[in-house]
Amino acid sequence: MPAALCVSQSSSDPLAGLEIRDHESPDVPPEPGWVRVRVRAAGLNHHDLWSLRGVGLPAERLPMVLGCDAAGVTDDGAEVVVHSVLNHPDWCDDETLDPRRTLLSEEYPGTMADHVWVPRRNLIAKPAELSFEEAACLPTAWLTAYRMLFTHARVQPGQVVLVQGAGGGVSTAATMLARAAGCTVCVAGRDAARTARSLQIGAHRVFATGERLPELVDVVIETVGEATWERSVRSLRPGGTLVVAGGTSGRTAPTDVFRTTLLQLRIVGATMGTRRELTQLLRFCVGSGIRPLIDEVLPLDRAREGFARMLAGELFGKIVFRP
Ligand SMILES: NC(=O)c1ccc[n+]([C@@H]2O[C@H](COP(=O)([O-])OP(=O)(O)OC[C@H]3O[C@@H](n4cnc5c(N)ncnc54)[C@H](OP(=O)(O)O)[C@@H]3O)[C@@H](O)[C@H]2O)c1
Repeated sequence: MPAALCVSQSSSDPLAGLEIRDHESPDVPPEPGWVRVRVRAAGLNHHDLWSLRGVGLPAERLPMVLGCDAAGVTDDGAEVVVHSVLNHPDWCDDETLDPRRTLLSEEYPGTMADHVWVPRRNLIAKPAELSFEEAACLPTAWLTAYRMLFTHARVQPGQVVLVQGAGGGVSTAATMLARAAGCTVCVAGRDAARTARSLQIGAHRVFATGERLPELVDVVIETVGEATWERSVRSLRPGGTLVVAGGTSGRTAPTDVFRTTLLQLRIVGATMGTRRELTQLLRFCVGSGIRPLIDEVLPLDRAREGFARMLAGELFGKIVFRP
């Protein structure tokens, strides 16, 4: 079956290790209780680029089918969304806190293939209101944005939220979710044409990356890292919350300890989300009418084009592949 595979890793040339080719997947489950999902749509995430760069995916596991996100159909005909966080069978707490958890494509083959095997408990019914392509955007970027806003920052209607980055998967999700939750949404991005698009999807005000905001904000949604961190900390009002889920531009940045102390700032890390949060996110999309912003849907055999556009920072919203 055709699949998008990581066959080698390079931090300077990640696409060199990407192959789209036939790959034999076993016809039997890798573990008892796992079920097969015929993938109808698979979302692309920055996680897939990190895997090609050698971050989070040990070289001894190559070749590895990439992809954390999928929506598809089980062998008994159920339309499902796949929760990508795989837990040890004994784990019964918040799935994201399991020290032995992995994501699809880290230890077991990912979703950019004709089918993927997953534990039955990782399946959630796909609402009929969402297309397979829309549903396939939710399990990583959108789920993370949901957890950042509602679980960690506990945003309230009327609060001011700053989203770092304009067109990224997490950034567009946070912009749309925060707007739908009744917040005032500020977006800071690298490019004026891209931040103009943020206004179309729900941002109230837009700024250039690093620009000083006219007022302090209640919450910052941070996935950019080094390039934006100092401005993120400086943008928070006393008692404000910075939630961080990534560092696309780099992982180390200085934090003003005095400011954090005196303003009693909260800095919280976020990783993915629970099965319960994914269920809530699906309901939120159905109930509010918001849908993931899709930049492009591509057949899986053209996946390289999608990866290249993400690497170039050209995307506005999600890329989805159809096997
Ligand atoms: N912890 C988790 O569970 C989790 C889940 C999802 C994602 N993540 C992480 O979050 C990050 C974003 O993921 P994604 O899938 O949303 O990626 P993506 O779609 O490729 O988006 C990248 C975003 O980063 C911004 N950006 C990149 N370099 C920048 C720079 N030098 N200065 C300013 N902005 C910059 C872009 O802003 P513009 O649009 O303004 O160009 C864009 O919004 C990744 O590092 C990923 O690993 C973590």
